[in-house]
Amino acid sequence: MASASLLKTSPVLDKSEWVKGHTLRQPSTSAVRCHPVAPSGLTVRASSYADELVKTAKAIASPGRGILAMDESNATCGKRLASIGLENTEANRQAYRTLLVSAPGLGQYISGAILFEETLYQTTIDGKKMVDVLVEQNIVPGIKVDKGLVPLAGSNNESWCQGLDGLAPRSAAYYQQGARFAKWRTVVSIPNGPTELAVKEAAWGLARYAAISQDNGLVPIVEPEILLDGDHGIDRTFEVAKKVWAEVFFYLAQNNVMFEGILLKPSMVTPGAECKDRATPQQVADYTLSLLRQRIPPAVPGIMFLSGGQSEVEATLNLNAMNQAPNPWHVSFSYARALQNTCLKKWGGRPENVKDAQEVLLIRAKANSLAQLGKYTGKGESEEAKQGMFVKGYVY
Ligand code: 13P
Repeated sequence: MASASLLKTSPVLDKSEWVKGHTLRQPSTSAVRCHPVAPSGLTVRASSYADELVKTAKAIASPGRGILAMDESNATCGKRLASIGLENTEANRQAYRTLLVSAPGLGQYISGAILFEETLYQTTIDGKKMVDVLVEQNIVPGIKVDKGLVPLAGSNNESWCQGLDGLAPRSAAYYQQGARFAKWRTVVSIPNGPTELAVKEAAWGLARYAAISQDNGLVPIVEPEILLDGDHGIDRTFEVAKKVWAEVFFYLAQNNVMFEGILLKPSMVTPGAECKDRATPQQVADYTLSLLRQRIPPAVPGIMFLSGGQSEVEATLNLNAMNQAPNPWHVSFSYARALQNTCLKKWGGRPENVKDAQEVLLIRAKANSLAQLGKYTGKGESEEAKQGMFVKGYVY
């Protein structure tokens, strides 16, 4: 553990600095924080970015807004492009991501956008930095920092998430490039267990990542996705989710992660995708809010759900049901498929469709914004938006 003499000075950034994105930090010695002393006498270091992390998290968890997850790896983005008959080239990925970030007025509904590394360093097709376009839209740029899932030796065919090696310098570089929050997605499979080993590994990895992110000025999104795969009922999902979140918060606390400076990205509590008993939005909301109340401290500013293969409309209806009464946290969305699916199809890779596709994206973003405020009615949705997108053993 670091001693007091190793403490960094504490730079203070105002909102305009993170909004501008690229300003180099000028350390100032005036804001060094108090560092708690552990009972053993060892000094525990608080992140020198503490105030900024809280501000960033609050800006993302702002009323009527949520996150656009557009951080598909090149392989996953390739599958999306293939579905509309496009080749997986950098130019095609750039064209699609340009369409997303430059949708006019997107920042009214979207507070943060998670990018894949390529996009963080990329320009739009008009030569503007993607990050700058987001900042102009009042959207905080974020970055996927995990390196993906690999088999977990000694488990029941489960996986673990790589990416801790070299994470600190990578995170510092992402901050310099304008990122202000991070995402690490690991998964837990219900049909394969989950084993104690897989749950502990997932929780420990998330906690180490969260501590490293905060140390480098990035608000960590903590995402232990409980996969939809399986024919189990909603009670089984609830039981597993309680176990997973208990472990996650145990290790977050052990790693001195500041809860006010994180965001969560849980799966909603639903039956397995192959379960015959389907749940209504009210049931999903009741189970999910019950889980959150039992496991998530109110200090956490935002709960930004993943969509996990639900249809666009289903994900929005479920979110809306969770916002019918005030919650201790901002309860919102961080969807990829449930924001992008109909937009991608509308685009179809044709420049003449860009405007229409952006409108479709805005319709979904607005619907979820209303759902965050508990005011979504579900009226007038297209049949396409009602189609599920579940994929067995989904990788991101
Ligand atoms: P989906 O909303 O498509 O499940 O994406 C989840 C995710 O982890 C994106 O960051």
